[in-house]
Amino acid sequence: MHNIVKIPGDGIGTEITKSVTDILEAAKVDINWIEVKAGEGVFKETGNPIPDETIETIEKHRIVLKGPLTTPVGAGFRSINVALRQKFNLYSNIRPAKSVPNVGSRFSGVDIVLFRENTQGLYIGKEHWVDDAEKHAESIAVVTEDASRKIITAAFEYAKKNGRKKVTLVHKANILKLTTGLFLKVGEEVSKNYPDVEFQDLIVDNMAMQMVLNPNQFDVIVTTNLFGDILSDLASGLVGGLGVTGAANIGDDAAMFEAVHGSAPDIAGKGIANPIALLFSALMMLEYIGENRAAEKIRSAVYAVLQDHKEDCTPDIGGSGTTESFTEAVCDILRD
Ligand code: NAI
Ligand code: MG
Repeated sequence: MHNIVKIPGDGIGTEITKSVTDILEAAKVDINWIEVKAGEGVFKETGNPIPDETIETIEKHRIVLKGPLTTPVGAGFRSINVALRQKFNLYSNIRPAKSVPNVGSRFSGVDIVLFRENTQGLYIGKEHWVDDAEKHAESIAVVTEDASRKIITAAFEYAKKNGRKKVTLVHKANILKLTTGLFLKVGEEVSKNYPDVEFQDLIVDNMAMQMVLNPNQFDVIVTTNLFGDILSDLASGLVGGLGVTGAANIGDDAAMFEAVHGSAPDIAGKGIANPIALLFSALMMLEYIGENRAAEKIRSAVYAVLQDHKEDCTPDIGGSGTTESFTEAVCDILRD
């Protein structure tokens, strides 16, 4: 039995986490869910968007499935995602983009896994004003050899374990010679330990064009925080958008699995939220805990529903169904 912490989250969070737990149950995965709160709901109740009890429970069990969280606007509010990533040093943000059947997209056969460094780079928001008039701002990018080695090694290890052929490192070392230059240098070093995996490096602007021209040339991608933020959404767009792409945040001894989309307040409570993104994140979680066969079974069931029962799918991907009709259709296949 696996103990896993569940944060339903805000907006459509409750609807899609219920769908995911129902589907995992139908696949007979033995999970003991420990539900805790975070987000706007608990902020309104207690004034704290991430209660100590939530942190303590995660500290104990170390694996989290998290629904989307609304970020309340207001001073002093910490970003929960950033807080959790820092607290548990979840340095790998892993974002697969894989074509799914029968979902509108210009491309087919895309199968990219993007590793984004999650703790450094320009993205950390270390900014300051140079002048008192606030007409001149500067931002600082942080890159360390240690953190670069960790994320790049994680990408190569993933490639090796999953029979992937190539790792593409994305940088801007021609201009940002120290920060992304260091990242590239570490990549060249690490790649020598993996002679069976092809190593390629590309400059980020060229990479953006190449991904749109021919995404099928890419396999595993590894890059710094801000480039990874942008390119991972681009990669999602290649396979039908954020509604069908999952994500994981993984450190050495903790992991958090979440959809990339937000809490969708415009459709919350209407029963039409698409649970596929969170479900695909949950499949990454199953692989993380060694339940690979269950993950494969569920993925096939989802593909079968997309292919043969599109009417049961939610409107955002062209269906005419609901969260519940999709969930039931997947569960029916799993129970057979
Ligand atoms: P959003 O992703 O919630 O919604 C954008 C559009 O996509 C909306 O039209 C929504 O209906 C649709 N959509 C999103 N997920 C869907 C799903 N599963 N099924 C069907 N349609 C879906 O982005 P938005 O509106 O910018 O943000 C809303 C809230 O979510 C904000 O408070 C934001 O801070 C938060 N957010 C949280 C994230 C997280 O917890 N990881 C990530 C992004 C935003
Ligand atoms: Mg993003």
